[in-house]
Amino acid sequence: MRLPLPLLPALLAALLAAPLRASPLQERDQRFHGVVSAGGVVASQDRLASEVGVAMLRRGGNAVDAAVAASFALAVTLPQAGNLGGGGFLVLWLPGPSPAADRGCPTGAELTIAGGTAVAVNFRETAPLAATADLFLAADGTVDRRRATRSLLATGVPGTPAGLVLAQRCYGRLSLAAVLQPAIDLAAEGFAVGEPLADSLRRAAPLLQADPTASALFYGPPLEPGGPSRPYDAGEWLRQPDLAATLRRIAAEGEAGFYAGPTAERLVALMAERGGLITAADLQAYRAQLVRPLAGSFQGHTLLTMPPPSAGGVGLLQLLGILEPLPLAEQGAGSAAALHRLVEAMNLVYRDRNRWLGDPDQVAMPLERLLSRAHAAKLRGQIDPLRHRPAAELDGQPAAAGGGGGDNTTHLSVADRRGGLVATTTTLNFAYGNGIAVPGAGFLLNNEMDDFAAAPGRPNVFGLVQGQANAIAPGRRPLSSMTPTLVFRPDGRPWLATGSPGGSRIPTTVLQVLLNRMVHGHNLATAVASPRVHSQLWPDRLSHEQGFSPDTLALLAARGHALQPSTAMGSANSVELLWSPGPAGAPRLAGSLGVADTRRPEGAVAVE
Ligand code: DON
Repeated sequence: MRLPLPLLPALLAALLAAPLRASPLQERDQRFHGVVSAGGVVASQDRLASEVGVAMLRRGGNAVDAAVAASFALAVTLPQAGNLGGGGFLVLWLPGPSPAADRGCPTGAELTIAGGTAVAVNFRETAPLAATADLFLAADGTVDRRRATRSLLATGVPGTPAGLVLAQRCYGRLSLAAVLQPAIDLAAEGFAVGEPLADSLRRAAPLLQADPTASALFYGPPLEPGGPSRPYDAGEWLRQPDLAATLRRIAAEGEAGFYAGPTAERLVALMAERGGLITAADLQAYRAQLVRPLAGSFQGHTLLTMPPPSAGGVGLLQLLGILEPLPLAEQGAGSAAALHRLVEAMNLVYRDRNRWLGDPDQVAMPLERLLSRAHAAKLRGQIDPLRHRPAAELDGQPAAAGGGGGDNTTHLSVADRRGGLVATTTTLNFAYGNGIAVPGAGFLLNNEMDDFAAAPGRPNVFGLVQGQANAIAPGRRPLSSMTPTLVFRPDGRPWLATGSPGGSRIPTTVLQVLLNRMVHGHNLATAVASPRVHSQLWPDRLSHEQGFSPDTLALLAARGHALQPSTAMGSANSVELLWSPGPAGAPRLAGSLGVADTRRPEGAVAVE
């Protein structure tokens, strides 16, 4: 049909004046759905680990038991990211009074909220006592990338064993031996390698086969004498007896099973032999910490997330503070208008991160100011709704190259039948860390030291240009992007647990999952599945996943954004508590729902 010409301008004007916005769909009518459970649920990056978590729930364990057991299982079944030789963060909420004091655990960091107890566990790695600020600088002042990422100098003192043991001892219901047993069995008896792990090990062969211990752990014997060791095919059985023995020592002795005795001796011997810095004193000094979660609010919801040395929690709350009064719902999920504001806010928040944040035990930070409403309003005022503000205009530094997310790290979320929630993210930094395994102990070492600003003002592997606050110093924890987060509904009830891997894209991934759920009426599965964008000041570009329309991208380009198509961002395995109206009108806990992010092939939800 041909429109009468005089009507065309009027029609166009009407279209521009009233943006087309689909009315929000009912949650059940959306294209993606999570897995529903009448009891608890575990969403992780590996089917076996999710099942291990749920097995703990079935035995009467709570969300902490399930999260700890699943994390130890990931150290066996997902060697690229699950770990003993790395570190991470965990945020938990459990209904009722805290059991911690009766178990001799400090309670000063706990928050009492929603009739329960919330706390965070910081088990980030620390720099060895012998580390110096110039550890990775070459003679010409540039960063020696190999030393910073692929050597034993790149390894921070591991935190995962201490963190998991601390969380379980202070907040779990089962015994440490019970939550470790499934991981011990998986390591000792083995498991069938799935195609994702087989593929990952094939791609990691140049790295891992260069280390005789890692090569023997993850590859079969050579097909011909003197030839290279052979990657496993999917379906082949992978046994890790040395790792089983290490896990047994932790089950029997707690932290001491890792930070002292044979495990520690083997790690220290490797360091001494091959030029690493970690000593027995470093291991003995390592402590995981119970810390107060960082609390914030957004449109009536309460959020609990990770404080520094996570820069992610601060960034997430800052972003939500900037965006809270903006009409994102009216603009619509995925609209150029909303995406523009999101990425402009991201750039401003990354400017703060780069300038101010570091390890709170060693660096003073203006956290109160950074998280204040006044600061959020000031940053909001710096956003031009129609034009991208170049990084050089916001930040007087020369342009820096590099950057982006990684494919590693792993996040899991748990809900239990009593409403307990856990979000935990752990990492070796790169896939398989520095690629070096501890002889006789069966685990890989992290390369988390690269999360420090090796040369303040220059980009690291994630393109982050960080400052003096995150310089290398003995005993210091490097700044992290990991952002495990819990959300409470406006009526005060516990609701969501989420988080993600993805390097510097972690906080922006978590932001988008939460905005989709809280603002745009997406159910949790749609919120996780929807395409994501990312920007981090430097490099000055807007990365976007596939899934945005060319029209939307053209509108963003017209605002001045340098667009960059990106591989998948993050893997936000998330859970939600399901509340239904109870007999007297008060909501009743009706079960839970889990979503494994389909961005990783091996993610899976298991239900109680
Ligand atoms: O703690 C951090 O921010 C990084 N070590 C996380 C690394 C990461 O997420 C890699 N890939 N997904």
